[in-house]
Amino acid sequence: MEKIPQNFGWEYTGVATEAFLRGEGAAEETVDMPHTVALTPYDYFDESIYQKVCGYRKRIAVPAEWAGKRVFLYVGAAAHAATVFVDGKELFTHLGGYTAFRVELTDHITPGEAALISIKVDSRETLDIPPFGNVVDYMTYGGIYREVYLEVAEKTYIEDLFVIPTADGSRGKVEARLAVDGDGADGVKLTVSDSDGKTVAKGKYSFSEKLALDIDGVRLWDVDSPVLYTLEASLIKDGKIIDTYKTRFGFRSAEFRADGFYLNGRKLKIVGLNRHQSYPYVGYAMPESMQKLDADILKYELGVNAVRTSHYPQSQHFIDRCDEIGLLVFTEIPGWQHIGGEKWKKVAVNNVREMVTQYRNHPSVILWGVRINESVDDDGFYRETNRAARELDPTRQTGGVRCFKKGSFLEDVYTYNDFSHDGTNAGCETKKAVTSDMKRGYLVSEYNGHMFPTKTYDSEEHRTEHALRHAAVLDAVAGADEIAGSFGWCMFDYNTHRDFGSGDRVCYHGVLDMFRNPKTASYVYSSMREGEPFLELSSSFDIGEHPAGNRGRNFIFTNADSVRMYKNGAFIREFTHADSPYKNLKNPPIEIDDYIGGRIEEDPDFKPDQARIIRELLNYSARFGSSAVPARLKLKGARLILRYGMKFDDMYPIYGKYIGNWGYASTEFSFEAVKDGKVVTTKTRSPATSVCLEAVCGRTEL
Ligand code: GAL
Repeated sequence: MEKIPQNFGWEYTGVATEAFLRGEGAAEETVDMPHTVALTPYDYFDESIYQKVCGYRKRIAVPAEWAGKRVFLYVGAAAHAATVFVDGKELFTHLGGYTAFRVELTDHITPGEAALISIKVDSRETLDIPPFGNVVDYMTYGGIYREVYLEVAEKTYIEDLFVIPTADGSRGKVEARLAVDGDGADGVKLTVSDSDGKTVAKGKYSFSEKLALDIDGVRLWDVDSPVLYTLEASLIKDGKIIDTYKTRFGFRSAEFRADGFYLNGRKLKIVGLNRHQSYPYVGYAMPESMQKLDADILKYELGVNAVRTSHYPQSQHFIDRCDEIGLLVFTEIPGWQHIGGEKWKKVAVNNVREMVTQYRNHPSVILWGVRINESVDDDGFYRETNRAARELDPTRQTGGVRCFKKGSFLEDVYTYNDFSHDGTNAGCETKKAVTSDMKRGYLVSEYNGHMFPTKTYDSEEHRTEHALRHAAVLDAVAGADEIAGSFGWCMFDYNTHRDFGSGDRVCYHGVLDMFRNPKTASYVYSSMREGEPFLELSSSFDIGEHPAGNRGRNFIFTNADSVRMYKNGAFIREFTHADSPYKNLKNPPIEIDDYIGGRIEEDPDFKPDQARIIRELLNYSARFGSSAVPARLKLKGARLILRYGMKFDDMYPIYGKYIGNWGYASTEFSFEAVKDGKVVTTKTRSPATSVCLEAVCGRTEL
């Protein structure tokens, strides 16, 4: 099948009249895909601006050589209901804004003549399809926001190819399930090639045979080595190849068991984030490069090993990139809390079918979400969604995200939004407290989010608390052997409906802002990443950033082995992850509890014991003030008075010298991250004398 992109030069109208769809009258503008029906402000806007019934039309040339061929229109996604017309004749309506569809045009076009393709797209939230029917905590935008193709095939063609790869050690087997449409072919040729394009296995089959190939020496797809292969299936008729279908795949096993998640038989804790597919200004309409960038940010900047595509299937480009870089994906059908009537449910079941058939060759996809996010139990409905997923993909387990415990458990994995952590208590609930079956897998599908919204420009203390809450949940999940892992809410801030967010139509739940710039909470994740050295600090070390001029609790985030801290060039201390309060986490945040180091001990005015007590008292009051010093420290203070004859007032100048630095040289804290004995990166914090805005160009090519 030949795929001919049709992404440029569509005529567009925000009000799709029948005349427009027939090709009459002028268009408002000419647009390209991906397209949004309304450019939205950054914040303070209403969903009404993208709710319309709009129209797209394009005159396409149908070459005479297409005579005898079949022609299809493929639309990657049109939010949310799309009706396709050819030369004004209505052909097909697709319901659902998050999955692709294909319409056959063959009988409605004439080779050698142009044809007018029109698409009416309804983006009103009153549609009786998921996710609509009640409130939704995200904007749903509108338009044809993924790519459009014309597909040209012979009379008989391959509609779909499902690859089922299995491996026993390095002995691999590939089973191909082919859906062929048309008046028949004589046989099939299968070719498997590796990522260098080298053929590693091939075979020829008649249609009565099972399409399976054995391959020796296969390499597994894994998070650290995402090895991909390509299966090419060709239909043969009268000794000639009449159609070819190619798809990438990987050999891997992925299984949620009672005691956790296993990838290729190895237990792996899932550390993930939830991702919406929205962007500022353009809603969903972002091209391939940006979709891929989000996957790269998750893997390489944030260091997570998994993503949940909340709350709908996302761009194939995004998932392709997840395949390429080894990022696990939990994808789910569209929806948010609300379950509609029978017609609505039919669309939801169809969403399951479309999701599974369109995404099942991706090795990165490890779990199908077949429940409407956070909806109530509905056994009849969910029996149906589970059945559809299992029938179309017997190789993957199902899950379905709940916000309540011990629900009716028709899926293979209990997936639960655990919002129990409030900054003071345990990071998560136990599996036993949540699931209705201890023998099946258990996964935390969301945490934090609305529990602690945080803006990039919130105070330092607030941003640090946000980070610590993420650390607390991650640490608790890391320490709970029977929890497969967790997905934090969420990757970045997003525009939302009036019922949610901060009154400005923004949910500030991200560890990144809407532009994918990091907040302090993201440092908890970045500290876990491999590769490029990472060092960040929760503080600017300016006392005015905290109440009462205290320094508060400040943290170092790093993926290095240790961090050396200096004040105005003088060494204070070398901190390691063992100094962290979080004991289960890989490279947890390290609390800075010392701003003095050995300098007081070197001061000839003080005895060693006296210096140690002064250091402890000063460090405490630097962080938390001197009004609520714990009894243990008060006793030590009394020792300074009784044994060393000090007076309370003596502490002021010492504080000024070692902590406050008022009137002394301006204070500069510097930090060196050390890995394998070498300084790999540094950071400096000092009072600023100028502000510099730096923009780094991430891409030099469009
Ligand atoms: C969950 C929901 C998410 C988001 C989140 C905020 O209940 O599934 O979509 O609204 O809360 O914390």
